[in-house]
Amino acid sequence: MVAAATYRPLITSGGGASAPIAASRIMQPMRIADFALERFFARWEFSVRHLLCASDVEGYPMSDLLDLADEETGALWADLRLGYTESASHPLLRAEIAELYQHVDPDGVLVFAGAEEAIFCLLNVAVGPGDHVVVTWPGYQSLHEVARAAGGVVTLHELHEQDGWRLDVERLIRALRPDTRLVVVNAPHNPTGMQPTHAEWARLTDELADRRIPLLSDEVYRFLEHDERDRLLPGTDAYGQGISLGVMSKSFAMAGLRIGWLATRDRDLLDRCARFKDYTTICSSAPSEVLALMALRAREQVLGRSLRIVQDNLEVLDGFFRRRTDVSWVRPRAGPVGYPRLTLDTSIDDLTTELIEAEGVLLLPGSQLGHAGNHFRLGFGRADLPEALARFEAFLDRRAG
Ligand SMILES: Cc1ncc(COP(=O)(O)O)c(C=O)c1O
Repeated sequence: MVAAATYRPLITSGGGASAPIAASRIMQPMRIADFALERFFARWEFSVRHLLCASDVEGYPMSDLLDLADEETGALWADLRLGYTESASHPLLRAEIAELYQHVDPDGVLVFAGAEEAIFCLLNVAVGPGDHVVVTWPGYQSLHEVARAAGGVVTLHELHEQDGWRLDVERLIRALRPDTRLVVVNAPHNPTGMQPTHAEWARLTDELADRRIPLLSDEVYRFLEHDERDRLLPGTDAYGQGISLGVMSKSFAMAGLRIGWLATRDRDLLDRCARFKDYTTICSSAPSEVLALMALRAREQVLGRSLRIVQDNLEVLDGFFRRRTDVSWVRPRAGPVGYPRLTLDTSIDDLTTELIEAEGVLLLPGSQLGHAGNHFRLGFGRADLPEALARFEAFLDRRAG
């Protein structure tokens, strides 16, 4: 019989001679910076009329989802008991998530409360003091800030508008160092809509595999490629140390479930993430697990709806950008967001405030990502985009006089 692991508190004071670890050996925790974008949304998201900068897809109606239940998930829903769930998640949910990948079985999947918890756990586990990490930027703040707060030395791999926001794989490879412990790439990319080509992706993942550097591949917008042929091999299928990050919030249009996951062939890493998660949520919400399972089993309908919303809105946006000279964009290749630039001699921060007051329409200025250059994130996953955009355009016309 294997005895349970014993435990003694790692106390820093009050433990007298029996304290198992000297206070001097416990690292001072680093402070994590405020998440600027989330604070911005906390202020505005539920008080404006139109979110023209949301990164998710119009929330899926609960009753429509229940209509998609098969016999098994319908029974799981009807008989659900609201107790704790398995900490790695319901085995059926892990099995369904594993179906999204070629080289992952259900034990290679760990479920979290959204992608955000997965990022927090993974970066805290994979990055230690002094470890070098390369992260695409501008981007979702936690992808670099959690790594920094964990003690990592972060190199931002900046995407540039003049390059069409493309991932410059050779430049990224040149940034790698002998002490690089992790590379983090988000594609389809928030906020630019960048999507590497298959050749670029293979070049990067082959190089990382050769150098034995793990990749956190943030694929939360996967399945929203505007041309399906651009869908990339998931990070976890590319090589043994690739880690795919997925979520129900974006392409699956179910942010309210707060269900995300990591999928990887690296069992040791996943095990360490599971141990870390014991300090965050322990296990997922029982109703959300069943609803996520229903949605994943009916993914053709669910994803088809999301892609239709995105494609229809893109057409509306194409007309808008053809007409305007005061805003311009690099048309995104994938996902529900793009990153246009205001070409007027006005700051996008000021314009955002004016637009909220005049029309109740919200943009996300690049300053909330720490990025200068008068860009703003534009989201086109929501059903009210035509109306929100019409209000934005009327506002721009009035301003132009
Ligand atoms: C690139 C990226 N990764 C992760 C997340 C976090 O997803 P969630 O809010 O579902 O946890 C987001 C959310 O906007 C995102 O844009």
